[in-house]
Amino acid sequence: MSEFLGDVDFEKFRSLIYKESGITFSDTNRTILESRLRERVKLAAVATVGDYYNRIQKDSEELKVLLDAVTTNLTRFFRNTAHFDTFIKFVIPDLLKCKAAKGDREIRIWSAGCSTGEEPYTLAMILKDILPAGISCKLVASDISLKCLITGKEGFYPETRVEGISPQYLTRFFEKKGGGYQVKDEIRNLIRFDYHNLKNDSGLRNLDVVFCRNVLIYFDEAAQKAAVDRFWDAMSGHSFLFIGHSESLFGMDTKFEFLKTEWACIYKKFV
Ligand SMILES: C[S@@+](CC[C@H](N)C(=O)[O-])C[C@H]1O[C@@H](n2cnc3c(N)ncnc32)[C@H](O)[C@@H]1O
Repeated sequence: MSEFLGDVDFEKFRSLIYKESGITFSDTNRTILESRLRERVKLAAVATVGDYYNRIQKDSEELKVLLDAVTTNLTRFFRNTAHFDTFIKFVIPDLLKCKAAKGDREIRIWSAGCSTGEEPYTLAMILKDILPAGISCKLVASDISLKCLITGKEGFYPETRVEGISPQYLTRFFEKKGGGYQVKDEIRNLIRFDYHNLKNDSGLRNLDVVFCRNVLIYFDEAAQKAAVDRFWDAMSGHSFLFIGHSESLFGMDTKFEFLKTEWACIYKKFV
C-alpha cells in the first residue's frame, strides 16, 4: 500500500472523480491516479493528499484542474481511417439524400471528447473537401480538459503531430509556421470548441452525427449508458453515432441500432 495515497483516500478520490466525470479508476490503474495526485498536491502547495481533498471540496476550479489532470488525451489526425471511409462513403451520401428530401441544407456534427482537436479538424477538412455547394456544416467539439481545448482552439500542431494528414490536405488547409502547422481559418471557423462534461446534458439537439471515440472506455457501464442516452436525445431522427473501434454498445439497453458498413461498424438512430 502506498504511504502517499492510502486505501481510504484512494476510495474518496475515485468516488469523487466518478461522480463528477464518469471516469473510473480501478485497482489496476491506481498508480496513474496516484502520480497525477502527487503532481496536483505539489502544485496546489498543500501538505497531504487529505488536505488536497478538502481543498477541492471548496474550490470548483481546482476540481476542474484535477479532472483535467486525470484524463487520457491520446489522439491523432485521421485516427482509424475506416471510420472516416464510412463517414465519406456512407454517412455523408446518406445524409445528403435524406436532407435533400427535407430541404435541410446544413450538416451538424458533435465531436464529444475531442481532446486536442485532431478529430474535429479531420472531420472539418473532409467536409470542406466533399460537401457540395450550397450545403454548409457546423461542428461542436467538446472536452472536459481545458488544456486540450486551448490547443484545439489554437489549431497549431508541431510537425510530428500532422503525420496522418495527406500532403494535399496539409497544403490546402494548413499554413507552415515555425516548427509546425497552423490550421487555416476557413477550417477553424467551422468548429466551436466548448467545455463540456459528458456527465451532463450538452443541450445540443438535432445533430446528424456524433463522434465519441475512445472516451466511453474510461467510464463504467452505468456512466456509459447515461452518456449514450444523452447522445440519443441530442441527435436527429436520422443520424449516426461513431464510437471507438474497441468500444461497443453490445449488451447495453439502448435504442441505437448496430450498423455494419463495408468499412466499419457504427450505430444509427432512425425513428
Ligand atoms: C483518448 S481521448 C479521445 C480523443 C478522440 N475522440 C480520439 O478518439 O482520438 C479521450 C478524451 O475524452 C475526454 N473525456 C474523458 N472524460 C470526459 C467527460 N466526462 N466529459 C468530457 N470529456 C471527457 C478526455 O479529456 C480526453 O480528451
